[in-house]
Amino acid sequence: MEEPYLAMRREYLMPGCSLEVFRVICSRYIVFPSTEGQFFDYRSLRAFHRTLSIMTSTVVPILFIQILLSIVVTTTLAGPITITRETFRTCRPGTWGGIPSDCCPPKLIKGPIVDFCPTFDASKPLRVRKALQCLSGHELETYTRKLERGYALMRALPDSDPRSFKRQNAIHCAYGTGSFVQDGSTNLTIDIHLNWLFLPWHRMFVYFHERILQKLLGDPEFSLHFWNFDNSVTATPRHGSRGCYFKAGHFVPPMYNDPSKATFEANRSFMTFEPNRPVDIALDLSQLNPLLGPPIFPNNTVEEQTRMNREIMHRSMITLANTTNFIGKAYRVGDARIVNPAAGAGTIELWPHITLHTYIGGWMLQPITAPIDPIFYPFHANMERLWSVWRKLGYGNDDPTDPDWLDATFLFWDENAVMRRVKVRDFLDLNALGYRYEEVNDASWIFFDNSTSSSAP
Ligand code: C2O
Repeated sequence: MEEPYLAMRREYLMPGCSLEVFRVICSRYIVFPSTEGQFFDYRSLRAFHRTLSIMTSTVVPILFIQILLSIVVTTTLAGPITITRETFRTCRPGTWGGIPSDCCPPKLIKGPIVDFCPTFDASKPLRVRKALQCLSGHELETYTRKLERGYALMRALPDSDPRSFKRQNAIHCAYGTGSFVQDGSTNLTIDIHLNWLFLPWHRMFVYFHERILQKLLGDPEFSLHFWNFDNSVTATPRHGSRGCYFKAGHFVPPMYNDPSKATFEANRSFMTFEPNRPVDIALDLSQLNPLLGPPIFPNNTVEEQTRMNREIMHRSMITLANTTNFIGKAYRVGDARIVNPAAGAGTIELWPHITLHTYIGGWMLQPITAPIDPIFYPFHANMERLWSVWRKLGYGNDDPTDPDWLDATFLFWDENAVMRRVKVRDFLDLNALGYRYEEVNDASWIFFDNSTSSSAP
């Protein structure tokens, strides 16, 4: 006799997404809709019944003992940092560098939490995030206009809307000031800075920011371009090259420095407004003391500064940057929050990230307020671009394979104000995320020659 349920059988497997694979395994016996709307199938009712009886006689008691054991064990063993409804519920005011913060999102997450599983769609061309310094003419005009409108709309959203400009700052603040407490703990707080969560978490944050802008603009192809601050060399274009090679990017991009634009922010260090002054990413980090405010930056000539920036990039991306040093220190369930930069941050987080936050100053000085300055976003886009560049450099550079990194799980509101559950392992492939970066002159620091510099910064 024909198996009555066989006809209904539909196999469905979305490769490349950790959460989907898990669901397919479960769906062999139980039918339930996936979060993306497709229905999984099951083998047959008979198999289901057989399984049910085996489960009640043997599996259930064993499972029960296992659950008991795991409760005991998880309180003592490591695991990936995981943000849940419970983490939101227990959020409390935090601190950064001795400064108090009060930026918890509402304790109750309304609606479902939907797994976010990016998949590569070969039929769609990748969007390109371009270098701001090379935009010109019509393209620059259109981009500026869109960004103007996007930010006007984002700022106009009420505070109750998690996509509002203010609330996006607040979520970065909550994640970055120890406001979230590890589930099941009373004192172990969570931070996405100064450890190996830094790169993936900020990629996710910028990604959802971009999706919110796309939605507000009604333009799904909109890409948030990046500030190529690490590029301090104006070179002649390579023959036949289509990237941005001919212009240095180490000044604050003009559209972010123009008081008539929505991307302007007055609360920055005076240095950022000095014409033709390249940024300084080579600050001596021992000068950092959040309670004393910004340190004094030296008055370097353009040539000196250029050399120092190239050298610091070379060190941070190559000389000092093996996998552990580059990505940052392991940080899992049971670990205390790291508060000393040198004790946890990867080389890229120290320089150019912390140094440039400090140089820009104002809101950007600390994580409680940094994304209030719109320059935060193109700045962080470049940061994650540099991560991709580092992976391609060779020298055995590769992402960690530790499951506690790969399975670290965060919650972000998406462009429809729906809460999404996002895993690090699903944010490592830019193709799956649907964008790529324009090529720029990374050679400016890749081939920095130490032998020509006398005094290292
Ligand atoms: Cu969460 Cu540049 O900081």
